[in-house]
Amino acid sequence: MGHLEVRHIDNPAELDDVFRIRHIVFVEGQDVPPDREWDGLDEDAEHIIALSDDIPVGCARIRFPGGKAKLERLAVLSGYQGTGIGSAVMEYLVEYAWKRGVDEIFLHAQLTTLEFYSRFGFSPRGEVFDDANIDHKEMFIVKDRQNVH
Ligand SMILES: CC(C)(COP(=O)(O)OP(=O)(O)OC[C@H]1O[C@@H](n2cnc3c(N)ncnc32)[C@H](O)[C@@H]1OP(=O)(O)O)[C@@H](O)C(=O)NCCC(=O)NCCS
Repeated sequence: MGHLEVRHIDNPAELDDVFRIRHIVFVEGQDVPPDREWDGLDEDAEHIIALSDDIPVGCARIRFPGGKAKLERLAVLSGYQGTGIGSAVMEYLVEYAWKRGVDEIFLHAQLTTLEFYSRFGFSPRGEVFDDANIDHKEMFIVKDRQNVH
């Protein structure tokens, strides 16, 4: 595997790369309706990109609704899945969210990814719900207050 870099985007061309990855993975790959994928919240979000040997291969976004961190739109191009890129993006996001001082990080996981997210400490809560014709469940981590200094 090549050199992997995970970081916030730092120019508009990288936002285009992020949108292209999401189009391929979600709209083409999972039949997510375009109006659901492009939900109007991208301007309020911070965007993360994963580069393998400088090639954009993965992405995610993070928002802070209600003072909590919400992780969204995690995607890795299919040819690069299963090589640790999604995990590297998750580690970056979780570390960044805690640095921002939130008490809780949450996300809406596709049911097939519950096990993947549980590796990073996320627990499921609530009922299964439909989003873009895909079954989801909310998952969350709360800050361990005893470890807050
Ligand atoms: C889910 C996703 C982001 C994971 O990224 P990735 O780069 O493939 O993840 P990693 O290589 O770090 O995988 C970590 C582990 O999770 C497992 N895993 C990843 N996605 C999985 C899935 N959809 N179902 C079951 N297991 C999965 C991998 O097999 C791997 O296990 P291993 O370490 O024992 O081999 C990626 O598969 C993806 O983009 N999927 C399509 C889009 C999507 O479903 N996004 C999530 C929306 S909630």
